[in-house]
Amino acid sequence: MFISKEVEALYYQYKDNPFGNKKDSRIESWLEILNRLPSILNAEVELVNEVSVDFDFKDSDKIERLLLHLIPWRKGPFRINDIFIDSEWDSEKKWKRFQKLNFDLDGKSILDVGSGNGYYAFRMLGMGADKVLCLEPNLIHVSQFSAINHFVNSENIRMIPERLEESGLENSKFDTIFSMGLLYHQRNPIEHLTNLKNLLADDGKIVLETIISPKECGLVLEPSNGKYASMPNVHFVHSDNGCKSIFRELSLQVQAESDLAVTNDKEQRSTKWMPFKSFESALNLQNKSITIEGYPAPKRKFYVLGKVS
Ligand SMILES: C[S@@+](CC[C@H](N)C(=O)[O-])C[C@H]1O[C@@H](n2cnc3c(N)ncnc32)[C@H](O)[C@@H]1O
Repeated sequence: MFISKEVEALYYQYKDNPFGNKKDSRIESWLEILNRLPSILNAEVELVNEVSVDFDFKDSDKIERLLLHLIPWRKGPFRINDIFIDSEWDSEKKWKRFQKLNFDLDGKSILDVGSGNGYYAFRMLGMGADKVLCLEPNLIHVSQFSAINHFVNSENIRMIPERLEESGLENSKFDTIFSMGLLYHQRNPIEHLTNLKNLLADDGKIVLETIISPKECGLVLEPSNGKYASMPNVHFVHSDNGCKSIFRELSLQVQAESDLAVTNDKEQRSTKWMPFKSFESALNLQNKSITIEGYPAPKRKFYVLGKVS
């Protein structure tokens, strides 16, 4: 069974088609690309130090052309033979910050909420996770995940194209729940954390990663019109105190926390695989300590949270 009967039932409608019955004019062309990816034999899959697959196949250009149709690749990198999918974010940097927390994923059943294209979920398998369920409503990410898992070919990772609050998940319990880069996009952050907590096993842990505003902003910074560092839909950027005050309210105990990490143009930038505007349009070029809108520049932090017993 993949985690629970409820997860199996939810996944059933995406078993044969990763987009289920979603309506999007791009789905047909994505399915065509996925169907044209070559079958491979004797693949060597690496998920511990990177996400890569090596196999015998002469025409790498053909695969590269197909994968380039799935742009923008925001999370990665991935390597498929000699094709290096150099995504906008060097997501390994965030993963290394997580690994510094010495968190044990061995044998865990995991929910990765807002998983993007599954880059981190593949790395979770590389750290020994038993099963990873990804929830990701953005169908471009779902197309990329399907392409990468065509090569990785793991039965232990699944992606469902739904938002957490619309997924219908209620009764399943996960050992570890990741929410990375989501809190500041929520109109109701308390509801988001409550939803995570409700799906957590009693001794489970939430791994929360988010942008932190400085203490001068009080408990929370509320960007006007939801625009922050050129990102839309940023409703609340909590300070460390602001986060901890919500955790207390929800009886979530901080069991570990990382240092603050400043985002820079080595971690996020335009590439051939994401040729649009990127971090360079996020900050004030004359004063890189503030965003283009005049707010403190983004710093990110991990918290590991458990239920108060
Ligand atoms: C900023 S990205 C972060 C992606 C990845 N977790 C990371 O840390 O790099 C936020 C992702 O969450 C997804 N998302 C936003 N709201 C969501 C929700 N309510 N449930 C599940 N996913 C959501 C978005 O589609 C987007 O891919």
